[in-house]
Amino acid sequence: LIAKTDAAGGPQLHPEALAFTSSLELDRALLKEDLVGSMAHVVMLGRQRILEPKDARAVRDGLGQLWLSAQAGTWAPAGEEDVHMAVEAALDARLGAVAGLLHTARSRNDQVALDLRLFTRAQCADALKGLAQLVSRLLEMAQEHADTMLPSYTHRQRAQPISLAYWLCAYAAMFSRDMKAFDFALDGADALPLGVGAIAGTSLPIDRDVTRELLQFSRLTENGLDTVGDRDFALDFLYAAARCAVHVSRLCTDLIDFASSEFGFVRLSDAIACGSSMMPQKRNPDLFELLRGKSGPAVGDLMSLLVTLKGLPGGYNRDLQEDRRVVLSAGPALCANLRALLLGLGNVQFDKERCLAALEGGATQATDVAEALVGLGVPFREAYQAVGTLVAKAQKEGLPLSTVPLEMARAIHPGFTAQVWGTLDPRGSVGRKVNEGGTGPASIARQMETLRQSARLAQTRAEGVPSLEGLFKRLSEVGI
Ligand code: ARG
Repeated sequence: LIAKTDAAGGPQLHPEALAFTSSLELDRALLKEDLVGSMAHVVMLGRQRILEPKDARAVRDGLGQLWLSAQAGTWAPAGEEDVHMAVEAALDARLGAVAGLLHTARSRNDQVALDLRLFTRAQCADALKGLAQLVSRLLEMAQEHADTMLPSYTHRQRAQPISLAYWLCAYAAMFSRDMKAFDFALDGADALPLGVGAIAGTSLPIDRDVTRELLQFSRLTENGLDTVGDRDFALDFLYAAARCAVHVSRLCTDLIDFASSEFGFVRLSDAIACGSSMMPQKRNPDLFELLRGKSGPAVGDLMSLLVTLKGLPGGYNRDLQEDRRVVLSAGPALCANLRALLLGLGNVQFDKERCLAALEGGATQATDVAEALVGLGVPFREAYQAVGTLVAKAQKEGLPLSTVPLEMARAIHPGFTAQVWGTLDPRGSVGRKVNEGGTGPASIARQMETLRQSARLAQTRAEGVPSLEGLFKRLSEVGI
């Protein structure tokens, strides 16, 4: 049963209305954020002499006791409309009247914004760490596979030869952009909302900068009316998470295809290959399919909050409580996905021979042959046409381009010399892509260096985010 505090509504409030409007089931996950936020607030009230320092200390210590009891499993927020009221009620039960001082110069509107910002800040740090680990793993694999060649695909048709390192770096580049997106979301969350009260600030002589420093935010939010209704930091976070999940899903689709017998580029180890309840021969890529599937809820979470916000008037509106479901679940879901992807990547084995055979079996070198003709002075369109004719002829005779006799080519264009024919080797094809952004080894080396650097940066940035445990420890001891 939920207690009827005045904050929830008057005595006439119907119990079902109270139950319906409660957020405790979800926001008890914000207990630690709520407690450190309250500790910082009451320390500030004491330092500003808005409260007697001894009262402020008593409340701060009482909040500290709640933290420890929650950790020991001897207390959990319950019996109130939300986590904020549950904390205040528990404090009242332990301390008596002095607990009533805690909410001085504060509203649940700025309080919940604080809890969510603290939560989002930590989630961004976790995402950054997970991504740094993933990019590092992709780079390790790229190092191992500098010489593994495979076809690239456009329209899911074989296109041009690339190295496997290039394919791996492509996904690492996507995840490195995701790091930037989380970095942006982290920056958005990194402003202290506390002190704006319900909407318009307070006439009591608070010092928001003291609270800001205690909770290690970089800045203050600038307008209370904006602050209490602002969930943009959460949107940015959900966007980063959704986009990252979409990148994961694309990588997984490549792996799912590569693991099929049609491609045969990849073998799944027993540790991740799933079976079928009926077909004994199956080695299914369920882990990668599920990772792809989980991009659905990730995109849904972003849509959910966007639609919740759409059309709200300025200031706080209770609709905002619907942010909880998605904001609380998106980060942990993303981190679980990144861990599963790491596990998956550690359990795929690339079949170098099959990859190479796929290159040599078709006509993926056609563009290289045309470019070799261009190198001899043949205009590109003419070269394109000549190679096109040659490929069509080879296909009709069932010959892979690499096995077409030189004479047959010469009959189509005199430019087909032994030198031009040398470009049919896929390794040479990859090696000749020397410019930036190409699949050549020098370009790969540059890409890997940039990626390595962004992984390092993300890791450092994440480590700079204060932990709730660290804040708690400091707030338990600071002088008032
Ligand atoms: N449970 C509410 C929430 O999570 C707390 C804020 C309520 N504010 C109010 N004015 N009713 O959004």
